[in-house]
Amino acid sequence: MSDLAKVNAAAKALDFVKDGMIVGLGTGSTSAHFVRLLGERVRQGLRVKGVPTSEATQALAEQHGVPLLNISQVTGIDIDVDGADEVDPQFRLIKGGGGALLREKIVAAASGAMIVIADESKAVETLGKFPLPIEVTRFGSSLTAQRIHDALRATGCEGHEVVLRVGGKGNDPMITDGGNYILDAQAKRIPDANELADALKRIAGVVEHGLFIGLAATVILGKDKGAEVRAR
Ligand code: A5P
Repeated sequence: MSDLAKVNAAAKALDFVKDGMIVGLGTGSTSAHFVRLLGERVRQGLRVKGVPTSEATQALAEQHGVPLLNISQVTGIDIDVDGADEVDPQFRLIKGGGGALLREKIVAAASGAMIVIADESKAVETLGKFPLPIEVTRFGSSLTAQRIHDALRATGCEGHEVVLRVGGKGNDPMITDGGNYILDAQAKRIPDANELADALKRIAGVVEHGLFIGLAATVILGKDKGAEVRAR
């Protein structure tokens, strides 16, 4: 999918940003376009404060001159603008392809409205083709992987392979901003996302999972020309 579609989704999200707002800043390539465009608006006089969802987004926002607040300095966030790996017709999401799902979910949950920006290829009928990222403690991670495997099977997922994400030095496991591992659950198709989300939450060692349910208020799907806004 072209970068233009991501840029168009990010640009449309600027319509939702009003002077004086505290804005959650997502992570990933689509969110990076939004941060860059927001920086342009700030240089033109828009007064906003951003709350970044990752170290990478923090660095990018600083580079583009977006004033930032630390999450510990806020009691609420007006809107959150973030990308997604998949979005279904009920606005349920898979997130965490970039490994930032824990902070992304905390910021989304603290926001008055979560606005998802994505190219149109991310819209799916059923979640699960994109491997579901699950953040787990390093301690006991292989046992946790087995429990996740059981949860996938119990909730009717097919195939259900659970893979430790690498991407650190050499072939080392990737370490998240929170100091944890990511397990990618290759479910192929998630027949009941709510049931799986509940089952994952009950597993000791699971810090957070990439199913975002009941959080997105608006989905902006970017196309090569323009963007489509869908609201709940
Ligand atoms: C980061 O952890 C993710 O949740 C991203 O928001 C998601 O992977 C979408 O990324 P892109 O905008 O790069 O497709």
